[in-house]
This record gives sequence, structure tokens and C-alpha cells, in this order.
Amino acid sequence: MRFASDNTSGAAPEVMAAILKANEGYERSYGADAAMARVTDLVREIFEAPQAVVHLVATGTAANALAIATHCPPWGAVFCHQHAHIAEDECNAPEFYSGAKLVLVPGAHGKITPETLGQALSTTGESGVHGVQRGMLSLTNVTEAGTVYTPAEIVALTALAKAKGLPCHLDGARFANSLVTTGATPAQMTWKAGIDVLSLGGTKNGCLGVEGVVLFNPEKAWELELRRKRGGHLFSKHRFLSAQMEAYLTDGLWLRLAAQANAMGQRLVQGLRDRQAHVPPADANMLFPEWPIGHHDRRLKLRVPPTTAFRPPKAANAPGSSRRGPRPRSMSTASWTPSDPIASQRRIFAPLAVPGVCNRKTR
Ligand SMILES: Cc1ncc(COP(=O)(O)O)c(C=O)c1O
Repeated sequence: MRFASDNTSGAAPEVMAAILKANEGYERSYGADAAMARVTDLVREIFEAPQAVVHLVATGTAANALAIATHCPPWGAVFCHQHAHIAEDECNAPEFYSGAKLVLVPGAHGKITPETLGQALSTTGESGVHGVQRGMLSLTNVTEAGTVYTPAEIVALTALAKAKGLPCHLDGARFANSLVTTGATPAQMTWKAGIDVLSLGGTKNGCLGVEGVVLFNPEKAWELELRRKRGGHLFSKHRFLSAQMEAYLTDGLWLRLAAQANAMGQRLVQGLRDRQAHVPPADANMLFPEWPIGHHDRRLKLRVPPTTAFRPPKAANAPGSSRRGPRPRSMSTASWTPSDPIASQRRIFAPLAVPGVCNRKTR
């Protein structure tokens, strides 16, 4: 087990094998490859959406930025959680690609609520030509706090957006993990819940580098295609993206990998809680535990039993606080780890020397 972001893991052997296979011979370029046609078929079947259109890109940031630019006008507001990845971790790419403004909506544990969204919707877009207009809703599942929206929770939010005529986006960088947690089908979690466009994650869950933008409304497909090219995200040797996504979606690999990552995540949550660490709600493979700096080192040196009383850390930035910033260190368990047991064992101990509370997310 490695105590770091799932971004630090390798790719699944099935995905690597597919890339090697795609390297044989010659193939058509720029998305006209045969594997891409199979990816479209797989997405349509898995999502029970025969009209769906999918475009592949190499990063989640590109998927989000293109999805948003295609659905929100430059004078529009994108309603998203205050800690959404699009708001905090994408260097303004969504604003850059769309020209739109992000309106940050609060909510505990990474989740927007109908109340907070209702409030934001009612106070935005009310100043006529002078102010920002309501543009679209963007949710994230698994959320940035490691919690998971159920389909019912998504419906409650998209219904409010739809009542104002707004399209809805789902950042699914860890979409498979959210399916495993809830047991929902891909359709229940997306178009049946009012989602118009999905950023379908692959990289965090065992791919080398591929994400899909899935449009449930095919009317926007050509615009997205043009924006992908104009934004420099249309790969010439596209078959290497297609091969990854095809392997990922074939025979349920994506769900098996997510189930493994979630199971390890929950084991980690339990283990930390048993040792009195403070672990906020963590529904899938991502957690934000907190414990005082030096806690591990002391425990390892003194061989203090796991029941040692835990003193919660002082509030961030409080006088004398050991926390240097507002956000704790994140951990997300990867779906795939190397099989070398000695290397894995070494990894278990290495991060224990790292200060337990850090002011930046791990990447
Ligand atoms: C929720 C979420 N969305 C989007 C992204 C963006 O992915 P990328 O780093 O590939 O641009 C990440 C990356 O960690 C993420 O956690």
C-alpha cells in the first residue's frame, strides 16, 4: 500500500498490453482509428445511451475545460463546489477555455447541497446585462473531499439547475470509484440523473493517460471536436488513447480496478481510525486524515500501542498550530500496485517519516 495520491501509481498491465498491441502496424490518425469506434460502442452500451458521443483527451483538466467551454457561454456562471478541482487545481483552464466565471458554492465534505445551490442560483444572474448570467452546473464524483454523491443527491441538484434551463457537467475523474461505492449504474449516475456531459476518468484508475468527454446530447459533438483541436488536445497518434480506454472499459476492468482501490481505501480508513487518527467521511479511495506532526515518529520510536490517545490538531493557522495551511494531506489508494512484496513493504514505512499534516495536496 502506498500512502500517496493515486496519480503516483503505475498503469494496469491490461492497459499497458493494449498500448503495446496498438503499437503494431499502422492505423488511421486523429481519432479515425478502429479502436476509437469500438470505444464509442462500449460507452454507448455501458451507459445505455445509443446517442452518446465520446471524445478522448490526455488529461482530466482538458476534459473538464472542454466540457465546460462547450456548454457555458463566456458571460455565464459555472456553479461548482468551492473546493472543486476546476476551481482550485486547474490553473483557470476552465475559465481560459470558456471565458466563463466560476461561482463557488459551499457545502460540507465536498458536497453542494440543494440549499447552497438554490441560494447561489437565486443570487446570480439577477442584474440584467450588467452581471454574470447563469451558465451551467458542474459536480464532481468522487468529490474532492473523498465523499460520494448518490444518484438521488445528483438528481436533487440537477433538478434545480434544469429548472433554470442550465446544462449539467460531472467531473468523473474517479467516476468508476463512485459507481462501486453506490452500486449505481453508469446511466443512473449520469444522464438519468440529469447529467449532460461527463468527464470520464481513466488515468487515476489504472490508465496511463486518457480521459473521455462523454456527451449525452450529441448536438454539441461537433463543437467539442472543434474545441479539442483548437485547444491542442487532438492527438495525431490517437490510437494510443483509444487502446487504453478500450482495455479499461472491456470486461469490467475499470470497475474491478476501482473496487480494489476502494477496498484498500476503506481498509486504510479503518486502520487509521483504529489508531485514533481523525479521518473525515471517506466513501471511496480518497481520504484526508489528520494527526499531529511527529505522531508517527514518536509511535515508531517508542513502540506505543495503537490505542495511544489522539489529540486533535489545533485549528489551521491558530497560534501555535502545527498546521501551516487550510488543507490536509490527501491519500488516495491506487487500483494497481507492483507485485514486488519487498518494494511494497518498504513503501509502507517510508511515508511514516513524512509529517502527517501538510498544507498541500499530494499529487
Ligand atoms: C477530481 C479531479 N478532477 C480532475 C482532475 C484533473 O486531472 P489531470 O491532473 O489529469 O488534469 C483531477 C486530478 O487529480 C481530479 O482529482
